Amino acid sequence: MSKVTVVGAGNVGATCANVLAFNEVADEVVMLDVKEGISEGKALDMFQTAALLGFDSKITGCTNDYAQTAGSDVVVITSGIPRKPGMTREELIGVNAGIVKSVAENILKYSPEAIIVVVSNPMDTMTYLALKATGLPKNKVIGMGGALDSARFRCYLSKALDVNPNEIEAMVIGGHGDTTMIPLARYASYKGRPVSELLSKEALDKVVADTMVGGATLTGLLGTSAWYAPGAAAAYLVESIVHNQKKVIPCCVSLEGEYGQNDICIGVPCVIGKNGLEEILDYKLNAEETALFEKSAAAVRGTNDVLKEINVL
Ligand code: 2OP
Repeated sequence: MSKVTVVGAGNVGATCANVLAFNEVADEVVMLDVKEGISEGKALDMFQTAALLGFDSKITGCTNDYAQTAGSDVVVITSGIPRKPGMTREELIGVNAGIVKSVAENILKYSPEAIIVVVSNPMDTMTYLALKATGLPKNKVIGMGGALDSARFRCYLSKALDVNPNEIEAMVIGGHGDTTMIPLARYASYKGRPVSELLSKEALDKVVADTMVGGATLTGLLGTSAWYAPGAAAAYLVESIVHNQKKVIPCCVSLEGEYGQNDICIGVPCVIGKNGLEEILDYKLNAEETALFEKSAAAVRGTNDVLKEINVL
């Protein structure tokens, strides 16, 4: 029996729960929200699709009742406020830090063995906060930004090449911020052929630029943060854990010397399996990529410093 809890039943959390149930990733999916009735309502609505869509996962919802989440194998934290048009993810820290810290602590009381997947923004800093606040080992606290950003990179590449996104390999590392993420264009390929052979430099530069502001573009169009791809990205990560798929997914994890960094959570290529983070893969970065990674880490560190300034850490 596998059990996954999604904390926060807003757009991203509800989409994640829906994908988890529809794809039968877990036997039981629990949603928890602070808003009275919202998790219960969305869970019931989703469970009523079981007889239409043919899935066997059970979905329930609860209002702030952590006892219902007891014994979860994986807990996805989506709580907090989303960005509005014109806002950066980093501007959310003041509100979201306190929420994420208390959620992580509550979760552990009932699911001490759980692996935590962090979605709340600013995602790199919230992952660092969840790691420090819980004292969990580094394999058990994973931020999902790179899974989402890589899916967006593959989407924009597929549009530029007019091919199936599933046939594209591409990865985004670094921070999950408009200026901190690093789409690794040099390692991107379509059916084994480097995309740099298939697209002009201008076209590839545009794909990279579009990927970096992928979230902001959607916030501008929707008036709030995106949810289909963020929810699915979190579910993709959960599936690799619950089904021990050992997929290589760029995730935000704690670095201890890897990629030349320490005391930071930031996106790097990871093997994700039943233990959560199983291995960090050592991609060889060239001088330009290394410089971008260092700049990205410095920016993430700057946001992490705010945690101390606002007395959350
Ligand atoms: C995004 O990039 C919500 O951070 C998320 O859309």
